[in-house]
Amino acid sequence: MSDPRTEAKRRRTFAIISHPDAGKTTLTEKFLLYGGMLTAGAGAVKAKGGRRSATSDWMELEQQRGISITSTVLQFPYRGMVLNLLDTPGHRDFSEDTYRVLAATDAAIMVLDGSKGIESQTRKLFEVCRDREIPTVTFINKWDRPSRDALELLDEIEEQLILEPVPMSWPVGDGERFRGLIDRQTGDFVRYTRTARGASEAPEEIVEPARAEAEEGDLWLEAKEGVELLDVMERTFDAKRFESGELSPVFFGSALTNFGVRMILDAIVDLVPSPSPRIDENDQPRPLEDPFSGIVFKVQANMDKAHRDRVAFMRVCSGKFERGMVVTHGPTGKPFATKYAHSVSGQDRETVEEAYPGDVVGLVNANDFRVGDSIFVDKAVKWPAVPAFAPSHFRVARSTDTSRSKQFRSGITQLDEEGVVQVLREPDVGDQAPILAAVGPLQFEVVQYRLENEFGAPVELNACSWTTARITDEESREKLRGMSGVTVAARSDGELLALFESQYWLQRLELDQPELTLDKLIAEG
Ligand code: G4P
Repeated sequence: MSDPRTEAKRRRTFAIISHPDAGKTTLTEKFLLYGGMLTAGAGAVKAKGGRRSATSDWMELEQQRGISITSTVLQFPYRGMVLNLLDTPGHRDFSEDTYRVLAATDAAIMVLDGSKGIESQTRKLFEVCRDREIPTVTFINKWDRPSRDALELLDEIEEQLILEPVPMSWPVGDGERFRGLIDRQTGDFVRYTRTARGASEAPEEIVEPARAEAEEGDLWLEAKEGVELLDVMERTFDAKRFESGELSPVFFGSALTNFGVRMILDAIVDLVPSPSPRIDENDQPRPLEDPFSGIVFKVQANMDKAHRDRVAFMRVCSGKFERGMVVTHGPTGKPFATKYAHSVSGQDRETVEEAYPGDVVGLVNANDFRVGDSIFVDKAVKWPAVPAFAPSHFRVARSTDTSRSKQFRSGITQLDEEGVVQVLREPDVGDQAPILAAVGPLQFEVVQYRLENEFGAPVELNACSWTTARITDEESREKLRGMSGVTVAARSDGELLALFESQYWLQRLELDQPELTLDKLIAEG
C-alpha cells in the first residue's frame, strides 16, 4: 500500500496563479469545501477546528497591505486522491518567489475573471509556467456576473498567451441567468442550484440534452451553438500537448456560488499528471522508488513569533519521507535529523509522520538550507540550480542604530538566505552598506519591516540610480572598473553583477566592447 510509486499515483501537486482579485482565495476555500476540509456554516466559510480561513495571511504586513507575500501549502483529500495546493504570492513584486514555488509543482490552475480576461499579472505568471513547461488548466471565474463573450475570451488566451484553449465545459447563461455548464465530454447539461453564500456544495443535476432544451429554452440553444462551433473548430483535448504546456483545458464557473468547482477538481485528478521522476543535474531522472530525496523550494524564518525558527519547505521527489529520519543535506554533506517536520498551512502546523513524492514538508530548524538544495538518504543527488531573477530595483541598506549593527548584519544574512532580496556587496564597502537588489520594490518593504520587527535593527534604505544588472566575471570587472555609470558587486552566491545606471549606456558598451562578459539574467522585462 505505501510504496512510493503507488502513493505518487494518488497525488496531484499544483498551484493557482491569477491576477489579484480574480478569485484565487475563494477558489482555494471552495477546494477545501469540496475536499471536506471545511464545515459549512451560516455566514463566512469556517475551517474545521475553528481555524479562520484557507488564506495564508499570517504575517502582519500581509494583513496590513492585504497582499499575500509568503507561500504555504494546503493538503486535502479528493476522490481518494491527495491534493497538494501550493500557494503563490499574488503580487508581481514577488514573482521570483512564485517562480521557485512553481519549480515544485506539477501543474498550475490559471484563474481569470470572466469580465476582465487576461490581466497583467496573469500574463507575467503564465510566462513563468511556460518557461518551466508547466501544464496549465484555465478556470474562467465569476460567470455569475455579467461576463465577456466566451469565444472572445478564448481568442484572447490564444493570442496573448500563445496557448491553445480547449473548453471542457461551456456555460449556459451568464450573470443572473447563469444556469450551469455543458460537459463537453458527455454533452449533458450540469445544472446547479445556488446555496446561501455558497457555504455548502452547490447541488448538481445532470440533465440530458433533450430535457435541457425543453427546460432551458434559448439559453440552452445558444450554449449548444457555442459547443457546435467548438466542434467545428476542432478544439479537442490532447494530453501530450497539455503536459508540454502548449494547450490548456478551459473550464467556466463561479467560485463564489460553487458552480463548476467540482469539474476543476475532477480535471486536477483526471488530467494533471501525478508526480514523476525529477531530473537531476546530470539530466538523469531520479526514480520515484529510489531512496528518499527532496528539493527545498522555499525558506522562511520566524513564521511563528513564539518559535523564532526557520522552516525549509521541501517537496518530496523520491522515496518515502518519515519523520525522525536522518537525511543528508546535499550542499554541506551534513546529516539533518527531521524530528520537527510539519505540514504548514498558514499559521497552523501539524506534525507530518510520512510523506511521498509530490508532498510538501516543512522542516523546522533547517538553518543551512537554501532554495534549490537537495536532501536525500543513501543515494546522493543534486538538482539543477534554480536561477535568480534579474533585479531592476536597488537600494543601499544602512543601519540607523549603531548599537544594533550586529543584528543588522545577521538580519541581512537571514533575509538573503531566505531569498527575500538578493544581497550584493562592493568589495571596498563591505558589510556596512550592502546593496539590496529586487525584482519589485515591495520586497524592500518586507526587508525593512522584518529587520525592524524581527531583528530590532532599524534601517534606512537609500535609493540608487542603477536600473539594470548583468552577470559579469573577474576579467570584465577589471575593465569595467573606473567606468562611470557602472558598479560591480558580488552577490552572496558568488556571482559578480555589473549594475548599470542607464540602459542606453549598457547597450552602447555591449556594441563597442563585445568582449566584455555581460550576461542577461532570466525573466528580464
Ligand atoms: P484573489 O484571492 O484572487 O485576490 O481573489 P478573492 O478570492 O479574494 O476574490 C476577490 C473578490 O472577488 C472577492 O470579493 C470575492 O468574493 C469575489 N469573487 C471571487 N470569486 C467570485 C465569483 O465566482 N463570483 C463573484 N461574483 N465574485 C467572486 P470582495 O468583495 O473583494 O470580498 P468579499 O467581501 O466578497 O469577501
